[in-house]
Amino acid sequence: MPKVKLRDLIINDVEDRYNWSMDREVTQFLSVPEKFPPFTKEETTKWIQTCIDGTNGYIQKSILSEYNDHIGWVDLKNFDKVNNNAELGITIGNKAYWGQGYGSAAIKEMLHYGFEKLNLHKIWLRVDRDNEKAIKSYKKIGFIEEGILREDRFRRGEYIDRVRFSILKSELS
Ligand SMILES: CC(C)(COP(=O)(O)OP(=O)(O)OC[C@H]1O[C@@H](n2cnc3c(N)ncnc32)[C@H](O)[C@@H]1OP(=O)(O)O)[C@@H](O)C(=O)NCCC(=O)NCCS
Repeated sequence: MPKVKLRDLIINDVEDRYNWSMDREVTQFLSVPEKFPPFTKEETTKWIQTCIDGTNGYIQKSILSEYNDHIGWVDLKNFDKVNNNAELGITIGNKAYWGQGYGSAAIKEMLHYGFEKLNLHKIWLRVDRDNEKAIKSYKKIGFIEEGILREDRFRRGEYIDRVRFSILKSELS
């Protein structure tokens, strides 16, 4: 598995993030508005700034390759502070890095952060049922399928199922 680093977002990440949002292959399975481009540069800048300010309930980190290339982002959100769990999200925006283990490596880093630094008990995620690549990587990491969320997302004119996966602190190798 390649080595990745997670770092805090910086405002200069906007350029890459905006360019990735223009790529329909990247956004295909993401919850983005049904317009193109899904975000303006101003909206992207505002989003990054609220992440930096920590005012939107997200802990979002930029993913860097071993050569310090900015290749995507990974986040934790929907924190349930009573039950110590949160939802994970991941995107490798730079497609040149797809299918080589970078996504899995970044998820593992974030899981360690969530379990060790934030003391979470469980981290869960929702994935479109037909996002086979993502599902394969989640299973390899050790996520367990919890169930099908029926017609859970309205995507390009139809309701589609999502699968909910989770991993417990005790299960991360
Ligand atoms: C999903 C995503 C994060 C995975 O990251 P990645 O670095 O490409 O994935 P990895 O290389 O770590 O693992 C993917 C696995 O799926 C396999 N795979 C690749 N293409 C595939 C396909 N079309 N169908 C099924 N499996 C596929 C890979 O071979 C790999 O398995 P392996 O390690 O056994 O070879 C990344 O592709 C991405 O950002 N996609 C767009 C955004 C997205 O869908 N995010 C998730 C939303 S829930």
